[in-house]
Amino acid sequence: MNKLRLKSPAKLNLFLKVNKKRPDGYHDLTTLFERIDLCDDITLTLNKNGTIGISCSHPDVPSDSRNLVYKTAKILKDSLAVKSGVNIKIIKRVPVAAGLGGGSSNAATVLLGLNRLWRLKLSLKKMVEIAQKIGSDVPFFLYDASWAIGTERGDRIKKLSLPVKLWHVLVVAELKVYTSEIFGALNLKLTKPSTDVNILRCALKKNDLPRISHLLLNDLETAIVQSHPNLLKIKEELENLGAVGVSFSGSGPAVFGLVESRQKAENFKKILKKRYSRVFVVRTY
Ligand code: C5P
Repeated sequence: MNKLRLKSPAKLNLFLKVNKKRPDGYHDLTTLFERIDLCDDITLTLNKNGTIGISCSHPDVPSDSRNLVYKTAKILKDSLAVKSGVNIKIIKRVPVAAGLGGGSSNAATVLLGLNRLWRLKLSLKKMVEIAQKIGSDVPFFLYDASWAIGTERGDRIKKLSLPVKLWHVLVVAELKVYTSEIFGALNLKLTKPSTDVNILRCALKKNDLPRISHLLLNDLETAIVQSHPNLLKIKEELENLGAVGVSFSGSGPAVFGLVESRQKAENFKKILKKRYSRVFVVRTY
């Protein structure tokens, strides 16, 4: 085997409770992740000259050491003294710096892929340890799970086995939001008391859309809207169209509406496309 073609999916956070700031500058949080079918395509091709090459046509994706995918390959190569190299081609569909975990997912996908291509025989536990060094959202994407709860930095994952699949319409404003800035602007005293994430988990288990919508939470919302007030308008538009529930994903700017069916999601998309260029119909994956 010298070539692998892989899907690298995005995520939504249906629940994101920030519990406290930690001495290391990160925040302890409780989040509920949903994997969605908006995916990048990644091709890994073995090379014998020992180099790590990245190619991606998207202008906002660097192909050097700033790229999480490069970092992942480099950590594996150096720590395990791998002689082979790899050429990594990324076809980007997931908006960059949008709160959808695109870069983190790419890193996890490459970690899983290189484990096979370079025959590293790393356990999931070992891959999670490596993923935690790359970013807080990376471990979630290592699990073969549509749903999971993340605690600590969001990097301690418990898979959920929920049979439900949800439809969403997703709007991503044409701006990049930096997670560190949003966490930096967060005032924990202003966050609302929230329900336990397990209540949402039960609502998901019952596929109770009104209840799920009522329980959507993102503690970063105030900080996101303070930095980018126009984003509130997108939220309101989705609500006015009739989405059952609306929330930001991660640190934004992605806003998703929960809708009852594909048909409704497509109808909303048609309307929203007149004003926004990045509108997607997505489903649990
Ligand atoms: O882990 P990652 O590199 O994706 O995090 C980006 C930034 O988001 C961190 O530098 C930190 O400022 C913030 N962050 C945080 N608490 C978390 C996750 C991220 O404060 N649990």
